Amino acid sequence: MNIQKVMVIGAGQMGAGIAQVCAQAGFDVKLNDMKQAFYERGIGVITKNLTRDVEKGRKTEEEKAAVLGRITMSLDMKDAHDVDIIIEAAVENMEIKQSIFKQLDEIAPKHAILATNTSSLPITEIAAVTNRPAQVIGMHYMNPVPVMKLVEIIRGLATTDEVYQAVEDMTKKLEKTPVEVNDFPGFISNRILLPMINEAVYALYEGVATKEAIDDVMKLGMNHPMGPLTLADFIGLDTCLSIMEVLHEGLGDSKYRPCPLLRKYVAAGWLGKKSGRGFYVYE
Ligand SMILES: NC(=O)c1ccc[n+]([C@@H]2O[C@H](COP(=O)([O-])OP(=O)(O)OC[C@H]3O[C@@H](n4cnc5c(N)ncnc54)[C@H](O)[C@@H]3O)[C@@H](O)[C@H]2O)c1
Repeated sequence: MNIQKVMVIGAGQMGAGIAQVCAQAGFDVKLNDMKQAFYERGIGVITKNLTRDVEKGRKTEEEKAAVLGRITMSLDMKDAHDVDIIIEAAVENMEIKQSIFKQLDEIAPKHAILATNTSSLPITEIAAVTNRPAQVIGMHYMNPVPVMKLVEIIRGLATTDEVYQAVEDMTKKLEKTPVEVNDFPGFISNRILLPMINEAVYALYEGVATKEAIDDVMKLGMNHPMGPLTLADFIGLDTCLSIMEVLHEGLGDSKYRPCPLLRKYVAAGWLGKKSGRGFYVYE
C-alpha cells in the first residue's frame, strides 16, 4: 500500500508534532482541529520548531518553507475524503475518539487506514465502531514527537498484517523506530511509565519529600533525563489521569488507582505545562 496523503486530527501538542514529522518526510498533510485558532496554535509550534532547526543549521530556509508548504489547514472532517491514512490525536476520551472514528469511517476512502495516537485506550474498542476494523491500528508517538525516536504500533484484534506492515514502513520513512505491541491497557510504554509517575504523586501527597526532591532522586539516582513530576507536567496531568483510569479499569487491580492529588490538580485545571501550572509553574 502506498501512503502519500496524511490527515492528522487534533493540532495539540501531539498532533502538531505528528504533522511536522510527516511533512518533513515528504508526506502531504492536512492538519485538522475544531477551530482555526487551535490550528494556528499548532502551526505556530511547528513554525517555531523549524525556525530553531534553521538557527541551529539543521535545516535551510528552503527546507523549512517546503515542510510548511506541505501542511494545509482543515476544519472539516470531510477533508478525509481523499487521504491514505488518518492519524487521530484528539483528547484521550473513548466517546470522543469513537465519534471521530465513526465519522472518518464514512468519509475516508475504502483503502484508508485509520490510526490513533491514543496513549492507552483499547484499539479494538475504537475499531469496533467502524466497518473496517481490519484497517484500524494504534500509532503511538512519544512527546516531543520531532525528538523522540519510538513509535509503538499497536495491533487491534482484527488488524491485518498488510495494514501493520504499511504503518511500520511509514514509521521508518519518518526516521522513527517502530515497536510492535499487542492491544492491552496502556500497551508497554504507559503500563510501565504511568504507575511510576502515579507513585511519585503519592510520595508528594504523603509528604515523603518535596516535588524537587522527588524529581532529583529519579534524575540523579536513576539517570532519568527528567523527574517524574516534571514529566507528568509535560505529558499533561489530564492525560496522566485518563491513562491511570484506563489501567485501573482495564486491568482491575487496585495498584493502578489514581492518586487523589492527581485528581485534585486536574479538577483545579492545573494540567501541567500546557495550562501554565501543574506540579510546577510555567511562564
Ligand atoms: N501528551 C503526551 O505526552 C502524549 C503522548 C502520546 C500520546 N498522547 C495522546 O495523544 C492524544 C492528544 O494528546 P495531546 O497531548 O496532543 O492533547 P492536547 O490537549 O494538546 O490536544 C488535543 C487537540 O485535539 C483537538 N480536538 C479535540 N476534539 C477534537 C475533534 N473532535 N476533532 C478535531 N480536533 C479535536 C483539541 O482542540 C486539541 O487541539 C491523546 O489521545 C493523548 O493520550 C499524548
